[in-house]
Amino acid sequence: MAWKMLGRATKDRKAAFRTPVLATVCADGPQARVLVLRAVDADRRQLIFHTDTRSGKAEQLGDDNRVAVTFYDAHRKIQLRCNGIAQLHTSDALADQQWRDASPNALRCFSGPLPAAACALPSDHDGSEATRKTVAAGRPFFAVLSVDIVRLEWLYLHTHGQRRALFSWEDEHATMHWLNP
Ligand SMILES: Cc1cc2nc3c(=O)[nH]c(=O)nc-3n(C[C@H](O)[C@H](O)[C@H](O)COP(=O)(O)O)c2cc1C
Repeated sequence: MAWKMLGRATKDRKAAFRTPVLATVCADGPQARVLVLRAVDADRRQLIFHTDTRSGKAEQLGDDNRVAVTFYDAHRKIQLRCNGIAQLHTSDALADQQWRDASPNALRCFSGPLPAAACALPSDHDGSEATRKTVAAGRPFFAVLSVDIVRLEWLYLHTHGQRRALFSWEDEHATMHWLNP
């Protein structure tokens, strides 16, 4: 059920699971931010995101690739807490395929200036449609961020009793336990 909801969220812009929070570990403490879930491979238990190679999270993953990804669907009252191992893909087949399949508008940000650098108040976007040609300069800064899930905790909120379950995987061996909520 969780994987079905995740799969649907990659196709439905309004799905609650579309915009989870991804947390990284860094020397100064944890960092968390919202990302768009772009694709899911349930067989490999893999989540796919897009990000900028120049971003803070890309640097943090170079030091420690353990991440947490948290989803919440308020309508279904389901929270998913995932732990996994992240990898950045910049020039492999996966990165090429995700770059090819994304809309130019979704790729516009990669040809922008250095993320998080101090700047003057940016001027408004001129509203023109991005094209493959106008976004091409951003390809070197585009990365696919994959997360291989090793632990998934499912929490269902219900007035008659909450349900909490833990799924974990080690060497393709899956275990599931109910937990006290
Ligand atoms: C709704 C929403 C969707 C976002 N989607 C993405 C995304 O897909 N990829 C991304 O790198 N940042 C995305 N961001 C911006 C990140 O939350 C974050 O501000 C940015 O990636 C810089 O984070 P960092 O400095 O920790 O690397 C999104 C933000 C919001 C609010």
